[in-house]
Amino acid sequence: MMTTMDELISLAKQRGFIFPGSEIYGGLANAWDYGPLGIELKNNIKQAWWQRFVHERQDIVGIDAALIMNPKVWEASGHLANFTDPLVEDKVTHERFRLDHLLEENGVDVTGMSFEEMRGAATIAKLKSPAGNELAEAKVFNLMLKTFLGPAEAQANTVYLRPETAQAMFVNFKQVLATTRRRIPFGIAQIGKAFRNEITPGNFIFRTREFEQMEIEYFVREEDWQTQFEAWLSAMQQWLKDIGIDEKNVHVREHGEKERAHYSTRTVDMEYDFPFGRKELYGLSYRGDYDLKAHMQASGEDMHYTSPDNPDDKFVPHVIEPTWGVDRTVLAVLASAYHEEEAPTADGKTEKRVVLRFPYWLAPVKVAVLPLSKKEPLQTLAADILKTVAPHFVCDYDETQSIGKRYRRQDEIGTPFCVTVDFDSLDDQQVTVRNRDTMQQDRVPISELLPYLKERFNV
Ligand code: GAP
Repeated sequence: MMTTMDELISLAKQRGFIFPGSEIYGGLANAWDYGPLGIELKNNIKQAWWQRFVHERQDIVGIDAALIMNPKVWEASGHLANFTDPLVEDKVTHERFRLDHLLEENGVDVTGMSFEEMRGAATIAKLKSPAGNELAEAKVFNLMLKTFLGPAEAQANTVYLRPETAQAMFVNFKQVLATTRRRIPFGIAQIGKAFRNEITPGNFIFRTREFEQMEIEYFVREEDWQTQFEAWLSAMQQWLKDIGIDEKNVHVREHGEKERAHYSTRTVDMEYDFPFGRKELYGLSYRGDYDLKAHMQASGEDMHYTSPDNPDDKFVPHVIEPTWGVDRTVLAVLASAYHEEEAPTADGKTEKRVVLRFPYWLAPVKVAVLPLSKKEPLQTLAADILKTVAPHFVCDYDETQSIGKRYRRQDEIGTPFCVTVDFDSLDDQQVTVRNRDTMQQDRVPISELLPYLKERFNV
C-alpha cells in the first residue's frame, strides 16, 4: 500500500531513520540527518551496490576522489556554462521558483522544452507566482555551489563543491587505466556526496542541496554503445527488484532531444511512483566521448586508450553512465516497504500494524532479542543469546514495555525476526522466534538458533 509523505517522514523521525538537520536551532531548510537506523539502511544499500557492481565484477574498479576539484574541471566539463535551471522570481515576495516546475503545476507539459520555449510558454500562459503575483523575467541559474579555499575570499580562490561524482572518474581515467591495466570495456565506480544549489529543494530527501550518488562511468568502444546501454538498463532494473521495489511502480522514460543534458546523446530516466508523484529515481546516459575529449583538450593530457594487442587500435573511449541517487533509493525503499494492516491482538481483537517489509538483507536491524522480563536469570540468558547472535546479525535488545508493544516497534523498523526469551526458556532451553511478515512463531532450541536464522537469511 502506498503511504503518504507525512506518514513516512513521521515514522522516519520517530524511529530514528531520518531527522530534520540542526533541529535544535530550528533546522536548516531541506537538510536532513540520518539517524541510527537510517545510516544502517543507507550503508546496506551502498554496500550491496559496491558488492554487486565492483567486487563481483572484474571489469569495474572503484575510486574515492576529493569533493573539491580544480575549478578547471568544471570549466572543461561544461558545468560552469551549462549546469543550470530556469529561475523565476516573484516580484513582490522575491521568492524564487523553477520555471519548469511552475509551468507543470499550471498544466503545461514542459517535456523536451528549451529555456526559450519555456519562457515563451510562461508569457502565453500569463504565468503568475503561487501567491498570484507577477513574475520577473526568467533567468538561467547555475546550480554549482561556490566556496573559497584559503584565507582570502578572492575570485582567484573560488572553488566548487562537486555537483556530480562523475567528473572524478574522467579526470582519473588515465591513472586508473595505468594502475589496473583494465581492458575496454571497463568501468570506474564511486559513491559519494554531491552538492547542488537547487532552486526548490523539497519532498523530504528527494531533492536536497547535499546528497549522495552511486555512479559508474563505463568505457566502451563507440560501436558497442547501444548493446552496453541495454545491458546497463537491465542491470539497473534487476537492482531495483532486488532492493524490494515493485516493477509496476517503476517507469523507464526516454529523454527528448532538448531535454537531455549538454553531454548526452541518449538518456533514460528510471522513474518511481513516489507518494508525491512519478519522479526520477535513477538515470542512464550515453555520454559519448564528450567528457574525455573535453578534458583532453583542456588539460593537454592524452586520454586515448590503446589496445594491448594492437598499438594501431587507439581511440578515445565512449561512456555509458548509470547513476543512482542514494537518498532517493532510501526514500523509494522506505515507501515500498511501508505497509499498514489489521493485526490480531492477544485478547482476540485487531489493531493497526505498521510494518516495513524490507527484503531481509536490507533491514537495518536483523534480529531483536526480547527477554519477557527484566528479572534474573532471564536477563542473563537473553544477554548470552544476544552475544551469540550479534557477531552474525545486527541486533537490537529491548526489555522495556509489553511484548506486544515491542513487536509493534520492531515491525515499524522492519526487523525480520524477534527472539523472545521467556520463563519456559530457562527449563526447556528454547526460545520463540517470530517472523515479521507472517507473525508466525516457532519454538527453537537455543543451540539451533543461529543455524535457524542463517537459513532464513540465506547466509
Ligand atoms: N552524473 C550524472 C548526474 O549527476 P543527474 O540525473 O543529475 O545525473 C543523478 O543525477 C542522480 O542523482 C539522480 O537520478 C538522482 O537520483 C540523484 N539526485 C540528483 N539531484 C538530486 C538532489 N538534488 N537531491 C537528491 N538526489 C539527487
